[in-house]
Amino acid sequence: MNFQLSEEHEMLRKMIREFANEVVAPTAAERDEEARFDREIFDQMAELGLTGIPWPEEYGGSGFDYLAYVIAVEELSRVCASTGVTLSAHVSLAGWPIFKFGSEEQKQKYLRPMAEGKKIGAYGLTEPGAGSDAGGMKTTAKLVGDEYILNGSKIFITNGGVADTYVVFAVTDPEQKTKGVSAFIVEKDFPGFSVGKKENKLGIRSSPTTEIIFEDCRVPMENLLGKEGDGFKIAMMTLDGGRNGIAAQAVGIAQGALDAAVAYAKDRKQFGKPIALQQGIGFKLADMATAIEASRLLTYQAAWKESEGLPYGQASAMAKLMAGDTAMKVTTDAVQVFGGYGYTKEYPVERFMRDAKITQIYEGTQEIQRLVISRMLIAD
Ligand code: CAA
Repeated sequence: MNFQLSEEHEMLRKMIREFANEVVAPTAAERDEEARFDREIFDQMAELGLTGIPWPEEYGGSGFDYLAYVIAVEELSRVCASTGVTLSAHVSLAGWPIFKFGSEEQKQKYLRPMAEGKKIGAYGLTEPGAGSDAGGMKTTAKLVGDEYILNGSKIFITNGGVADTYVVFAVTDPEQKTKGVSAFIVEKDFPGFSVGKKENKLGIRSSPTTEIIFEDCRVPMENLLGKEGDGFKIAMMTLDGGRNGIAAQAVGIAQGALDAAVAYAKDRKQFGKPIALQQGIGFKLADMATAIEASRLLTYQAAWKESEGLPYGQASAMAKLMAGDTAMKVTTDAVQVFGGYGYTKEYPVERFMRDAKITQIYEGTQEIQRLVISRMLIAD
């Protein structure tokens, strides 16, 4: 067992950290305030090879593994959780199912431009009446001639409106319940596809979250992803990996908050000495650092398992559960370390705290992670 990152991973981390500090961080507060997505940042991530980080070069990717991918999401989220989730949804929610289940044609047509960063990807599963109960979706897809006609709507779509390629799930056979769900690749210009309401959110404000609407949306037959009826499994397997991307986002947010809290606690003097030297604050910093390290190890372990071809669904759910709760606790404690200043927009910790909350909600609430973990514990 070796807990040391390879030289390649260390170099990658250094490169992404520099990019995050120099390019992403300076506008993070402003983009948050204005709820503004910056395509320019995505384009620069593409130039660095991040938009296709785990995909083979034959599909326009950088040929790294999933550990490299989580390091990228973590480092971006250390300064801007919105940028972290933009990449995470693009790679693990939209790219992954195409890479895993797409035909060669689909991979060349859709995965390649996404890997190269020419196109942005998104994933559409959740509906107004189907959140935790994803299998309760109502969006339908009916085969008419050589096209599927989609009707319904999806909500809370990360990268909604800025994405070009949407992996969406719809019911092709209502009798079959989850076995009657199919997956489709939908282009933003397909007739009958439109983007609805954009959410005004507590956190990750520069990552757009929208509704997407299908009104007799015509999807060519060849855009069925996998086989008819495979959709629910594809959605679930996609989330198995996606959840680890959120774990990485949570680790990054927590680390960003700890870094800020340590710097402030060393500088801020009360009762004649830096507050870092007051035990109440010092112990808090110690607990924050310990929880982050535990979350990081679970996250890296799940990524390593996926890269090695080992089962990783449970590991990924554990990582997301632990890291999401850690991010919420650590960012709340960071605001506490800053005291009144932490509650203002003068420092980034209030943004980290607002951003942390979503990691306990999306890609399966913490309650759903517990369900996934416990079901695996008791499975034969
Ligand atoms: N891998 C492969 N197959 C899986 C699977 C997995 N991880 N999970 C379930 N399945 C299979 C089951 O084996 C079962 O197949 P069989 O019938 O052949 O046995 C089938 O799928 C149905 O499974 P369940 O009976 O377990 O289904 P369920 O209705 O009880 O739901 C659930 C399971 C885990 C609760 C699921 O609904 C779930 O994950 N809910 C949460 C949804 C979620 O995470 N949404 C996030 C949306 S995306 C998002 O947030 C994105 C963003 O923008 C960042």
